[in-house]
Amino acid sequence: MIDKCLFPVAGYGTRFLPATKSMPKEMLPIVNKPLVQYGVEEAINAGMTNIAFITGRGKRAIADHFDISYELEHQIKGTGKEEYLTEIREVLDQGTFSFTRQREMKGLGHAILTGETLIGDNAFGVVLSDDLCVNQDGDGVMAQMAELYKQFRCSIVAIMEVPMEDVHKYGVIAGESMKDGLYRVDDMVEKPNQEDAPSNLAIIGRYILTPDIFDILRETPPGKGGEIQITDALLVQAKKGCVMAYKFEGKRFDCGSVDGFVEATNYCYENIYNK
Ligand code: UTP
Repeated sequence: MIDKCLFPVAGYGTRFLPATKSMPKEMLPIVNKPLVQYGVEEAINAGMTNIAFITGRGKRAIADHFDISYELEHQIKGTGKEEYLTEIREVLDQGTFSFTRQREMKGLGHAILTGETLIGDNAFGVVLSDDLCVNQDGDGVMAQMAELYKQFRCSIVAIMEVPMEDVHKYGVIAGESMKDGLYRVDDMVEKPNQEDAPSNLAIIGRYILTPDIFDILRETPPGKGGEIQITDALLVQAKKGCVMAYKFEGKRFDCGSVDGFVEATNYCYENIYNK
């Protein structure tokens, strides 16, 4: 039912310098596959085959990755090496890919607003591909959220419990528990101090947003860090009606940090690669 998914990939990835000096963070491989491909596969598996990237300067490698490489195809045609392209060919066959640029890095909220022309007036998914999510026991996180959307028809954020000393890295919610792992959000704070955090339920990089978010974002002033924060816009939605927070099934790795990236690499090598 939701067929569009937005991928904000315009950030500088400063925590991965110098690797990200001329290469997008999203193209860093976890074993043999770029981070962004994991995210796109997750979206496509949730039925979101219309993939929209918010890119920036120096991110052309992402557009090239989701296109045919004729020279390469020609070079390895008929050889055993063709099998290495199987997965990405499947992605290309199933998805359509569009791109627009965020000219200034004014925050995730601003990046999402930049995507309005690619999304239009429908609910859509958002994947931050530096959060790698895997669920080997069932549906991917986006598919789980798309299923919930059918029931609630409102914005949904994916959450996980984090240690209190880590809440300052996340948007944090407070809400009324509806049933196991599902909350109706009544408060949200972006990167709070431990003392100000309403809970230890942290938002990770998976969202389903209803399209009224665009009008709200247009009116949202810069918040924490001088950036337009999606958390501030979601709080407006939450106060007006309904934003759900969902404790997803599966594992999430913060691949925007070196520690999370190494953890994800080890996990994927042992559990997913060549399985
Ligand atoms: P991050 O803050 O984690 O990514 O933003 P970053 O800025 O690339 O990384 P560091 O902190 O400098 O190492 C979360 C996501 O939002 C996107 C980023 O690309 C990332 O996927 N983003 C952020 C944008 O697209 N535009 C922005 O203005 C800000």
